[in-house]
Formats: sequence, C-alpha cells, structure tokens
Amino acid sequence: MAGAEPAAAGGNQGGSAAAKDAFIASLMQRMTLDEKIGQLRLISIGADMPQPRLIEEIAAGRVGGTFNSVTRADNRPLQDAAVQRSRLKIPIFFAYDVVHGHRTAFPISLGLAASWDMDVVERSARVSAIEASADGLDMTFAPMVDISRDPRWGRTSEGFGEDPYLVSQCARASVRGFQGSSPARADSVTAVVKHFALYGAVEGGRDYNTVDMSPLRMFQDYLPPYRAGIDAGAGGVMIALNSINGVPATSNRWLLRDLLRGQWGFHGVTVSDHGAIEELMRHGVARDGREAARLAIDAGVDMSMHDSLYLKELPALVRSGEVPVARIDEAVREVLGVKYDMGLFQDPYRRIGSARDDPPDVDAEGRLHRAEARDAARRSLVLLENRQRTLPLARGGTVALVGPLADAPIDILGSWSAAAKARQSVTLLQGMREALAGRGSVVYARGANVTDDERVVNYLNFLNWDKPEVVQDKRPPQQMIDEAVEAARGADVVVAAVGESRGMSHEASSRTSLSLPGSQLALLQALKATGKPLVVVLMNGRPLDLNWAKGNADALLETWYAGTEGGHAIADVLFGDYNPAGKLPVSFPRSVGQIPTYYNHLRLGRPFTPGKPPNYTSQYFEEESGPLYPFGYGLSYTDFALSGITLSATTMPRQGSIEASVTVKNTGTRDGETVVQLYLRDEAASVVRPVKELKDFRKIALKAGESRQVRFMLDEDRLKFFNDRLDYVAEPGEFTVQVGLDSQAVRARTFTLLR
Ligand code: BGC
Repeated sequence: MAGAEPAAAGGNQGGSAAAKDAFIASLMQRMTLDEKIGQLRLISIGADMPQPRLIEEIAAGRVGGTFNSVTRADNRPLQDAAVQRSRLKIPIFFAYDVVHGHRTAFPISLGLAASWDMDVVERSARVSAIEASADGLDMTFAPMVDISRDPRWGRTSEGFGEDPYLVSQCARASVRGFQGSSPARADSVTAVVKHFALYGAVEGGRDYNTVDMSPLRMFQDYLPPYRAGIDAGAGGVMIALNSINGVPATSNRWLLRDLLRGQWGFHGVTVSDHGAIEELMRHGVARDGREAARLAIDAGVDMSMHDSLYLKELPALVRSGEVPVARIDEAVREVLGVKYDMGLFQDPYRRIGSARDDPPDVDAEGRLHRAEARDAARRSLVLLENRQRTLPLARGGTVALVGPLADAPIDILGSWSAAAKARQSVTLLQGMREALAGRGSVVYARGANVTDDERVVNYLNFLNWDKPEVVQDKRPPQQMIDEAVEAARGADVVVAAVGESRGMSHEASSRTSLSLPGSQLALLQALKATGKPLVVVLMNGRPLDLNWAKGNADALLETWYAGTEGGHAIADVLFGDYNPAGKLPVSFPRSVGQIPTYYNHLRLGRPFTPGKPPNYTSQYFEEESGPLYPFGYGLSYTDFALSGITLSATTMPRQGSIEASVTVKNTGTRDGETVVQLYLRDEAASVVRPVKELKDFRKIALKAGESRQVRFMLDEDRLKFFNDRLDYVAEPGEFTVQVGLDSQAVRARTFTLLR
C-alpha cells in the first residue's frame, strides 16, 4: 500500500453488519460537522475546480468522492491527500460512467438487451468492472435502467428497452457483473442504479422534461427495474433530474424516503445527478440555494454531485436547527457505508495499487477484452429482413461498402464510452476487409454525410465541445452519391451502413423525427436504383422509422452501436460466420405520430383488431396500426417452428404452479439460436391490465433439424400485479399463456387461477 497507514483503517469489509455499524459509529463520533458535510460532496474532476485546489479540498476533509478521472496515476495523489493529509484520513472513492464497457466498449445497453442473454449482460459488466477497477475506479454510475417507450428520447440508447421484465433481468445481471461476488473485491466496482425514477418517461421524449404518471403505471411498469437492481445488491442509486407528479425527484421525500428506504429497504448511498440540487431552484420549488440544500437533504439525497450547495448551506442550516444533525448523520452513514463495503477502509489503494505496478500505457492493446466484446456484439445484432436469403453473403465476389457509418470508428463505440479509444475500434470497413482477406474484395465509398443539416452538425459538435467529432465530407452530396453508385455498379452486392452518428442518440439529443436524415435516404434510393442486392446495416441508438428500408432493402440488420469489436461482429454476421439471434428489446413504430408504441399497452374498450373494420376503434386512420417491427422480433439464418402449448393443468390452486411447455424445432439447414418468449394475459381483473406481459424467456441453441421441449414454470407470483390500492396481488380467474418467438406471433392456452 502506498502512503501512510490511514488512521481510519480497520474496516473489516466482509465482516458482520454489526461490525460495520460499530466501525462507522465510532468514526462518526470523531467527525466534526464540517467533516461530515465534506463527505457528502461528489466532485466532477475537471469541471469543478483545478487539480491543486481539489487536492487541498480533499486534504481539508471537504470531499467524499470524485468522478471523471480514469487512471490510477490520476487518482493516487487524490487518495494520498485524503489518507495522508486529512485529519481523519477517510479515503475518498473514485467513480465514472462505465455504462457499456470501459477501455473496451461493448455494445450500447440497448444492444446488450437485444441479446436476450443475461450471461452476456453480466459478462460485459464484469469485464467493465475488471477494466475500470484496474484504472483505480471504485464505482460506476450504471446500470441505467430507465424504461423508455418514447424513442424520441436520446437516452433510449443507454437503457435496456421498453419492457419491465427484460429490463429488470438486465438490471440484475449488470449489478451482479459490476459488483461480482462482493463490491469489496479489488476487481469489482460498486453499481449505482439510475436514474431514480421514471426518467425515461419525460414528456414528449424531451430530455430533462416533466414526468406525470399514475401510481399504477409507475409500480407496474417503470419502477420494477430499479427495484431489481437494488435487490441484486447495488450499492448506490442516482436520483433522476425530472420531477414526478409535480415534485422533483431530488426533493421527493415520498420517492427517496417512503419508497426507496422505507418500502424497498434500500441500504446504500443516494447521489444526486449532475447539479440537480441547484436545479431545484430552476424547477421553482426552492427560492434559493439554502432552500434547495434543505429540501434535498430532507428528501434523502446523500451526496450532492457537482454543486457546492451542501458545502455552502448545510452548516448554517444545521446551526439554525432547520436541518437536524440526524439528517446529516444518516447521509454520512451511507457514504461511509459504501466506502466500507468497497473495502476502502481496509485498503484505500485497493484499486489504485502502487505506482510501480501502474500500466506503462493505459491504452495498451493488452488491456482490452476483444474476444468478449466481439462475442457480445455478435449476440446483440438483430436481423430484421432477409429477402431471398440475401444474407449471409458469399465470399468470393466484390462488395460495395458505402455509407457514412461504414468507416466510423467513433460512432461505432456509442455514447458514454469516453475511456474507449476510437483508434482501437474495428469499423465495418476493417471488419469486412479482414473477413474477405484474399477471398473477395471490398470497394468503399462514403456516399453521404450522416446529415447535411449544418444546424444538426453544429449541435452534435457542441455536445462534445472538448473535441468536435462530426467531420463533414466537403464534397457536393451528388458527387458522393455518384461515387457510391459507381462502386455499387461494379459490385455483386451493396452493403450500406447508415443511421445516426452517436451524438444523435445521447443525453440531450431528443429528436422530433425518427427518419434517416435526407442525405442518407437519398444515398439509399440511388443505390436501390442500381438494381444490385442492397443490404442495409443500421447503426443507431433508438428505434428509427424504417419504412423505406423495410420496403426496399433486400436485407436489414440492426447493429445499434456495437462497440470496439463492432466491425468484426457485423462482418461475422454478414458472411455467416455467426448466425444472428438477437431480438428487439423495443417496438419499432411506423412513424413518430404513432409514439408511444409499446407491446404491453393496456386493454381498451374499443381496441383496433387486425382483420376487423377499423372505424370507431383506437387507431390512426391514415396509417396501418401496430408497430413496424414488434418487441421480441428478430430473424435467423435458419427457421424455427413452435408447437402448440401444453399445460400441465388447466387450473392452478392458490400457492400452486403449473408448467407450460412447447417444442421448438430448428427446421432449417443451419444451427442457430432463438429466444422463446412467454407472455401472460390476465383475462379479467379488478383493474385494467395489459394485453400481454413478458414473464419469462429462454434463449436456446438448436442444431439443424433438432427439436427441444422448453418448459416454463408459472407460479402465483408470476400472476401478480398492483391493484388500485397498490397491493401486489394475484386475482383468481382466467389467464392466457402466450408463447412465441416474438411478441405478436404467439400460440395461446388458457388456465384458471382458483379462488
Ligand atoms: C447524467 C448521468 C451521469 C452524470 C455524471 C449526468 O449528466 O445524467 O447519467 O451519470 O451526468 O456523468
């Protein structure tokens, strides 16, 4: 261990809860009020103050933790200041937004969810933790588990989709991966579930907007993923920036005290989002900084991120009696508790290590986990169309690879991947060249800019003001298209990589349209006119309007932002070295006007029913109803057939269970994987229930010609929902079990839950 023995050492993480409580209680007895308040401060490195000043603040005991530094060498002097110079030598912790990988970028979370493979989700978080902890980090602001039903919201890309069950499974798997067997492990990072709560439901998909939602919808649909992450042991919760039914989350006593701490029994640290306490003034619920600090501490916000209001206002608020010291103590106890659980009292340098072991090059190739990232990326790809089996491509001929995202090393990483280096990412161009090496050729032409809208380009570059990343090809659009068309004419097949630059699916990047920008649509149309087979490879962080592509592309592959190994993974699928098995974790609407489009909507008195007259039903008269691609949908290079459902009984006694089974057969000529999805519909209940809800799924691998029986156990818990008193109950009556390979094409059988 570098540095002096910390006076506060002696924490015995892994020991009993009583030992932890006793350790923290004895430490707190020695703390002054100012030292306590100092622990509640979470500093943004680089944004809040220059480094020399930060070191002095830490030495003065005025910092609890920092975020945004990503090397051991950067973190060590800060920890030195805490454990060598501060009076009580309390270690600080180091956090970062490790959302989908660290040095190695994995697919964005929406892509990880599309794998429907919880081992993949867990492994990607585990690798992220290994890489992040090796950089001296103790905590990540992840997983982000906000349910999103509005793809206009740019942060849809950061979450795991629209479904409470699937997102909850992903939340659990991520927390397990980040924290491993214990957050105290040197190769673990503490997970901070965010953004609590309901951030994905901002009005109109406009970032940072209002959320106004019924308690039923909250409890049934939006809250379960946070709960799942917390139940999996997440050490922290980040509080959302939005208000909820008129009260900002950051000052919401009901949310943070009654629900989170009270009902859910959360023990861990709560952190505000960036500057959110100050924003209470802009929300108009606090007259001044003093009131904002009082409201936040009172509501249960333990740490204030990137604002100085706690530091500035809490001492006087305590002295005047407006904030009882017990409130401060509660918050401090959680901050010290999370540090204890991280093992920092035992060894403040647990993850920073000693200087002689620092990696000589933090970006060294050897620190990456390419094989794991490639595997995850392949599993995240969703095949949406494949006419006349256009894919997989045969090797041997010439492929024209065109499009602004074909050779886009930054975009393929996705947002929130700041520690990953673009020069280490494999673009599609590189992946295809390697895949074809000596067995065919690739002719590349950019064909278009992501957009020709200068306003959009300026906005995207402003988002990343430290290093503008959208670089425009200055040639006239028609010249670029002509070049691409010429490449297409000389090729056997055209692969067009189109979609959004990563900044378009990002925090603060809400869109009014889901269309491909005009420059790219014009390119696709020109390519189509060549008559060559057209394979469209999409890179995007939200459902897009794919009407043109669906009608015109010979094959359509959704690749999200596939990460460092994206180009290899996509080439693996294009050339058939891997048979795609991803399924959509979100519904793809037909148009913006159709939003929200989500499969598990409530039942209606006048529903639209396919095949029946549409008049006086709930629909839009000038467009077909239902999503363009449904939740759970995705093709394979082989075919699967599903038998009818067999139920072990047609009645379920109270506290009993029944088994639903189906046989899945791989009827094609290739080995492959698919996801068998089980939905339930409550036929009559005391409140209006969804048309169906995902309750279980199984990802299975079948050899060509192989069949397998898949069994699902349904017990009373799976039938439960929140009634109008918010009790979680199962009500007797009929339930329909639906099993399918997507949410629409399902087999169904009914059973009865007895009284
Ligand atoms: C985001 C959070 C993030 C935080 C720290 C905020 O702007 O909303 O998701 O964790 O910044 O980087």
